[in-house]
Amino acid sequence: MFSLDTKAMYYPVSDRRIVAGEGVYLRDAEGNSFIDCASATFNLSLGYSHPAVVAAIQEQAEKLIHTTSSFQSEPVVRLASRLVELAPKKLTKAHLKVASGSSANEGAIKMAQRATGRRDVVTLFRSHVGQSTMLASLSGNAFRKEPLGHVYPGGLHVPDPYCLRCFYRQSYPDCGLLCVDRIEQFLEFASSGSVAAILIEPIAGNGGNIIPPNGYFQRLRQLCDAHDIKLLVDEVQTGIGRTGRMFACEHFGIEPDAMSLAKGLGGSGAQVAAILASDELAGLPADHHSFTYGANSLACAAALATLDVIDDPDFLAHVRAVGARILDRLGELKNRCPCILDVRGVGLMIGIEIARRDGSPDPQLTNILAKRAMDHALFLRTSRYGHGNVLKIRPPLILTDVEAELICDRLDDLLRSVTA
Ligand SMILES: Cc1ncc(COP(=O)(O)O)c(C=O)c1O
Repeated sequence: MFSLDTKAMYYPVSDRRIVAGEGVYLRDAEGNSFIDCASATFNLSLGYSHPAVVAAIQEQAEKLIHTTSSFQSEPVVRLASRLVELAPKKLTKAHLKVASGSSANEGAIKMAQRATGRRDVVTLFRSHVGQSTMLASLSGNAFRKEPLGHVYPGGLHVPDPYCLRCFYRQSYPDCGLLCVDRIEQFLEFASSGSVAAILIEPIAGNGGNIIPPNGYFQRLRQLCDAHDIKLLVDEVQTGIGRTGRMFACEHFGIEPDAMSLAKGLGGSGAQVAAILASDELAGLPADHHSFTYGANSLACAAALATLDVIDDPDFLAHVRAVGARILDRLGELKNRCPCILDVRGVGLMIGIEIARRDGSPDPQLTNILAKRAMDHALFLRTSRYGHGNVLKIRPPLILTDVEAELICDRLDDLLRSVTA
């Protein structure tokens, strides 16, 4: 009675019908409410229907929803300036004619290809950088490519800095960052000899919340400079306050040649994305990367309202503090629950790695935990681009201390009930 007739839907959807969302809470047609630990698709940085975003959308809708991106429109031009002000110094131009993380990443790649005259793109094993044919191919895990069999001819996958399960069976720091050094050999022996860019997430989001060790990005920058390869940073998940800084680049001291933004930029779900590029990467002709719903006035107004909330030192400090609080509680849980191998995170980008007693990944148990979480009033998602054994804790950034404790209490109950 609560479910709709979904037979015309191309893809399967859950029987659960969502009727409302407010703050960090989702409510279904049966009146149940859940804390959304995935911020929908990791994009609701300000949660459901944040009043500032709603007001900005209402006001802008009455003036101008959309016009062709060849004209000036106030929210679009203001958003470009605001993003460039916030970005690492080298990034001086904002390209807004994109409407998703995938189209932002693909545009950044085209910019690097045009600037260098070269083709190949290096990505990491567990990366998830988008779902266009090119980006599904460049993403790490084979499961998304296998049914279609498309492989972008200029893709080069290299092992990631996943110290817990190091590809090279080394330990940090004794490894001397072998995972970066070995990329030299991939360039020499596995590439086409024409490498334009490395595209990397500061923290692999869907790959399992993998946080690179200290020094990783500095070494990667040196490698890029030595080969004149452009360093493209995918901040689609990590950007706009998710890690307690406006951009994760700030935590790691990354100096990118371009940065892709999407998801959290829309605050409560407005469809807006951006490529921030250095002068050197500017110059891609406008009609070589331009999407109808990019540079949308309504979405840019929502993004400006979002930045007004997040670009506040107190707001960002709260994200760091509330994230640290959750990590502390998860650390205690780890000491009690043998199925938790690791908890790791920066700000509100947190992962819980679930494993068997021998340390091998346990995606079955992870999926059971994610499914049963609904019985404990939590919505959780897992890391399918990795081994599928990491529960992702990425609630909206407006999470209060009380809600953070509630998440941890519910996770505690969930683990007790499933592993009893
Ligand atoms: C890190 C990262 N990059 C790119 C994308 C693709 O973004 P979109 O789905 O908006 O195309 C995603 C989506 O999950 C992502 O997590």
